[in-house]
Amino acid sequence: MTRDLLYERLADRMRRQIHRGVLRAGERLPSLRRLGRDQRISLATAVEAYQQLEREGLVEARERSGYYVRSAPAAVPAATRARHLSRAPMPVRNPALLGVLDVQSRRDLVPLHAATPDLALLPAGALAASVARAMRRDTAAALSYTSPQGLPALRERIAQRYAQCGVEIDPDEVVITAGALEAISLTLRTVTRPGDVVVLETPTYHGLLQAVAAQGLRVLEVPNLPGRGIDAAQLRELIERHPVRAALLVPNFNNPLGSVTNEDDKRAIVAACAARGTVIIEDDLYGELAYSGERPSPLRRYDNGEHVVTCSSYSKMLAPGLRVGWMLGGRRRSELLRTKSFSTVATATLPQLALIDFFARHDLERGLRRLRRALASNAQAYRQAVLDHWPEGTRASEPAGGMTLWVELPPPIDGQALFEAALAKGVGILPGHLFSNRGDYARHVRVGCGLSWSTAIEKALRDVGAVARRLSDA
Ligand SMILES: Cc1ncc(COP(=O)(O)O)c(C=O)c1O
Repeated sequence: MTRDLLYERLADRMRRQIHRGVLRAGERLPSLRRLGRDQRISLATAVEAYQQLEREGLVEARERSGYYVRSAPAAVPAATRARHLSRAPMPVRNPALLGVLDVQSRRDLVPLHAATPDLALLPAGALAASVARAMRRDTAAALSYTSPQGLPALRERIAQRYAQCGVEIDPDEVVITAGALEAISLTLRTVTRPGDVVVLETPTYHGLLQAVAAQGLRVLEVPNLPGRGIDAAQLRELIERHPVRAALLVPNFNNPLGSVTNEDDKRAIVAACAARGTVIIEDDLYGELAYSGERPSPLRRYDNGEHVVTCSSYSKMLAPGLRVGWMLGGRRRSELLRTKSFSTVATATLPQLALIDFFARHDLERGLRRLRRALASNAQAYRQAVLDHWPEGTRASEPAGGMTLWVELPPPIDGQALFEAALAKGVGILPGHLFSNRGDYARHVRVGCGLSWSTAIEKALRDVGAVARRLSDA
């Protein structure tokens, strides 16, 4: 058995013993030497197993004394369990990812499966007025094709906004798309060929895995750690070991974790990818939605347009139904433009005209300040309700931005079973196995927290807690 498997198996056994109370809070664990002797494993394997449990918040190392079971296991989900370096690239085979997610089109649910802001938090009236004005004033333009690249006034707005976070770009490198996901798909099609290897985070947004599946790519996964973001060291090792064509990354408020990658790690990621010729496709969709109000840098800040293509949209800031997004093409702008024009000719003109009108009259930043505050307070309220009403041992992420909570359920509750039981109660959540290529995270679920806190939301979370308790007793 390889060392990776040995330590994973050992950590798994001890994890179960801790959860079942066989190993009790405060208890001293066998010394590394004794563990090695008893289990007939090397010291290094024993160290790796303990370090993994430490990363998960289950045990702690005390200086000159050894490892102890933590008295109060942290209420945040465990870091991704395995080191991923020894794994081979794999096509997307997770069957849950290869079908259409029916739950997305259901209108009869409390929609905690969605990651969208409450309509009441969006400038719905002002957007409606801008659409009406654009249609009335620019009827001919609104009803015509526009250029594949998109309207210049909108591209200028986008460039100005990036300048505010230290990213100086020429509006001419902005290409407008139908949302961030189209920008990502077009970039994948431009820079990869079927069979190429790409790196994605684990966990990551299922739509990214689906875009990669559509292009016939093989996937390597790099952990995204709660509270820390992308594991930059593992990413570097992966691209040194494998011929990785592209890395599709969400450094700012990864969906589902809401974690942000620190600036040093971002710099290191860009440098490592640049050294190996790996193209970074950056999904910066949530970059403007930091609860602290401080916008973290996009990876593009550490690149001159040579290695990074940044993709984003107004879906989470203004309205997903506008379907207006963009890519910062850098030196790939002409190729990307060609892929786009061969694929969709141009993005819908009316929403672009409406946004130009909207920005001329309203301050985007003012609306975002309100949205960020509301999302921060939602996340706190949802998290507390999950910890209060779901079975003991449930852990919930502490997002720093965005609008999703990542919840780890105590054994033996299965995320898919909870998803199905919640649907039967009229509540939508998403099962954790949708967020990795290999169908990991069987004991996780994602809860969207974009809807404003209300008694209806509290009831929905209580109801899911009640069915989770029933599943845990079953
Ligand atoms: C990380 C991430 N990327 C992309 C998308 C899709 O964004 P858009 O609506 O702009 O296509 C989503 C939607 O939830 C997302 O969470």
